[in-house]
Amino acid sequence: MIGRATGRPVTITGLGCYVPERVVTNDELAGLVDTSDAWIRERTGIRERRVAAEAEAMSDISLPAARQALEQAGVRAEDVDLIIVATVTPDMAFPATATLVADQIGAADAAAYDLSAGCTGFMYALAQAHAMVAAGLAHKALVVGGDVLSRILDWTDRSTLVLFGDGAGAVVLEPSAEAGFLGFELGADGAGGPELFFPGSGSRLSTDGQKHFLTMNGREVFKFATRILASSAEAILEACELTVDDIDVYVPHQANVRIIDHAVRKLGFPEEKVVVNVDRYGNTSSGSIPLALAEAAADGRLKPGSLVLMTGMGAGLTWGSAIIRWTHPVGATQTNGAST
Ligand SMILES: CC(C)(COP(=O)(O)OP(=O)(O)OC[C@H]1O[C@@H](n2cnc3c(N)ncnc32)[C@H](O)[C@@H]1OP(=O)(O)O)[C@@H](O)C(=O)NCCC(=O)NCCS
Repeated sequence: MIGRATGRPVTITGLGCYVPERVVTNDELAGLVDTSDAWIRERTGIRERRVAAEAEAMSDISLPAARQALEQAGVRAEDVDLIIVATVTPDMAFPATATLVADQIGAADAAAYDLSAGCTGFMYALAQAHAMVAAGLAHKALVVGGDVLSRILDWTDRSTLVLFGDGAGAVVLEPSAEAGFLGFELGADGAGGPELFFPGSGSRLSTDGQKHFLTMNGREVFKFATRILASSAEAILEACELTVDDIDVYVPHQANVRIIDHAVRKLGFPEEKVVVNVDRYGNTSSGSIPLALAEAAADGRLKPGSLVLMTGMGAGLTWGSAIIRWTHPVGATQTNGAST
């Protein structure tokens, strides 16, 4: 689906992020599986990632991000009427993690649900929240994206273990005087589902009696990622009658520096417009885009007037892009544990 934003103008008024305190370096992983710091850096650009403590679940890493986003927006939790948590690692299948977040922050009357779209979850959730606020159904929406992928990784599989990390980010969406969001492009190719999946995690019974983990065909996902980051960005730029030159800040999904470099070259972005923090966090799935936004806020690139292009992609296979004119000042989002 693709479309320019219609209805009342909607913008992001607050941003927050959180990563667990524990830093796991490449060298530490090299002590667990047959890999090396040099291999991981060269093939992925990742230097380290954060890993949640045993007692930390998705709602725990969502809460600090959510609270910070609300504080920055100047929105009281009791005034929030919609909470979407995009994740594939909720605390449990039900109740939705969003309801746990709603309860913890004190958003008693908010509609609250989780959304599953792999690493693209945050982009899908943004589009949904935008539509509900633009249509007048919701007025103050909280969108959280994040994952605790460390829980579903095989810690003996070098081909997946080195790529992912834990983290979450949150934004507040509100109606605004000036246009914030300009348009969205979202899609899915279900035929690519077997390239990145989590067997035995739902009602499809697994019959082999084994414990299952995130399972990925890295080469196929790599090909998909390099293609879709560029094509989705091109589609939304065209729909909004914009060009790469108009964009001030490019926020691609943080999966692998080589994937980002490929998209950047294809699209023709100068380096200074591109946000990269995969080196410090690895791929945090639905936390990736908001953590990268926080990075851009911290280094002063995300300011009122900036035109921002975000593109996510992931399991499904899914993808999603949005263009937003940043309207509200956001300070550095220094959250406990985060090094942005
Ligand atoms: C996973 C990925 C980094 C592998 O990089 P690559 O350059 O494509 O490497 P290849 O798959 O060609 O593997 C090369 C070799 O390295 C090995 N290898 C894989 N992981 C390794 C690791 N951590 N350390 C050392 N060697 C490793 C492979 O086993 C393979 O060995 P072989 O040739 O003997 O079979 C890359 O394919 C990738 O980033 N894919 C996309 C993953 C992704 O982003 N997923 C999430 C999307 S939301």
